[in-house]
Amino acid sequence: MKRLAVFTSGGDAPGMNAHIRAVERTGHKRGLEVIGIIGGYAGMLAGQFEVLDRIRTANILDRGGTVLKTSRCPEFHEREGRDKAVAQLRAHGIDGVIACGGDGTFHGAHFLHEEHGIRIVGTPGTIDNDLSGTDFTIGYDSAINTAREAIDKIRDTADSHGRLFFVEVMGRHAGFIAMDVGVACGAEYVAVPETMTDVDLLYQRILAQGRDARTIVIVGEGDELGGAMELGRLMKERYGLDSKVSILGHMQRGGSPTVRDRVLAARLGAAAVDALLSGKTDVMVGEQHGEITYVPLEQTWTSRKAVPPYLLELSNILV
Ligand code: F6P
Repeated sequence: MKRLAVFTSGGDAPGMNAHIRAVERTGHKRGLEVIGIIGGYAGMLAGQFEVLDRIRTANILDRGGTVLKTSRCPEFHEREGRDKAVAQLRAHGIDGVIACGGDGTFHGAHFLHEEHGIRIVGTPGTIDNDLSGTDFTIGYDSAINTAREAIDKIRDTADSHGRLFFVEVMGRHAGFIAMDVGVACGAEYVAVPETMTDVDLLYQRILAQGRDARTIVIVGEGDELGGAMELGRLMKERYGLDSKVSILGHMQRGGSPTVRDRVLAARLGAAAVDALLSGKTDVMVGEQHGEITYVPLEQTWTSRKAVPPYLLELSNILV
């Protein structure tokens, strides 16, 4: 292998820049040329490639977002789109690829390997932490700390007014962010997509606080009742409760990455280069119990990662 490419894809996540830097540094230490693909799969299709060197990756590791940009690319769902992308990779002499993103990114990467024999490994980059085969994903720790900071502030005003707040956090179909910040911020109830939201229990918890006391309910965006807005509306309709709704949204994706995210991103970047050099392909490079692990890309979407049961338990005990 002489020339490897790296790209970021799907939702951006804090730590992606530290990851790109680690791939560039490790690649050069191993005597490789390193190319950045701009704009995820859309950039691959369009042939948007640039050479990465020390200067290009200097002063980026503390920055949120991704200097390589990212996209969601429907064209890549079609074989024709993937064929075009492979033609670009070949034209640019790329013989190894690192794809940093979530399960959508890994679907695309798996097809590139299966249909065209492209040597490709994935690295977990998403704030959702919803990929099996790694304990944590790049960006998750930063996102939960951003959410924690926002919720602590909401708590101040909720406490001063004695108000009920429904705070919605991201996570798509997974409740990792909601559960962790729920416990960290002392929420009275945490609604996550993985479990049925018990509206009566929620009402009891609110009553137990006292109608004029501060109550914080964390709602994962994929919650089966339809998110924080819907839950607030339901509590008004069913029990006449007034509440405030705060949707944290995309702010959770931004900001400077935490130390944990920078170190994870760096470690996985270096490990991904070495995985390609040792002949690995069609795998995600992750970290489990402190060790680097390799799981087939397919496993990252066929097996669902569960929110640790201790978190669910804790959130019920600590109310
Ligand atoms: O996967 C990361 C994530 O931020 C999810 O938590 C969220 O559901 C989704 O991306 C939002 O995607 P977009 O920014 O494309 O609307």
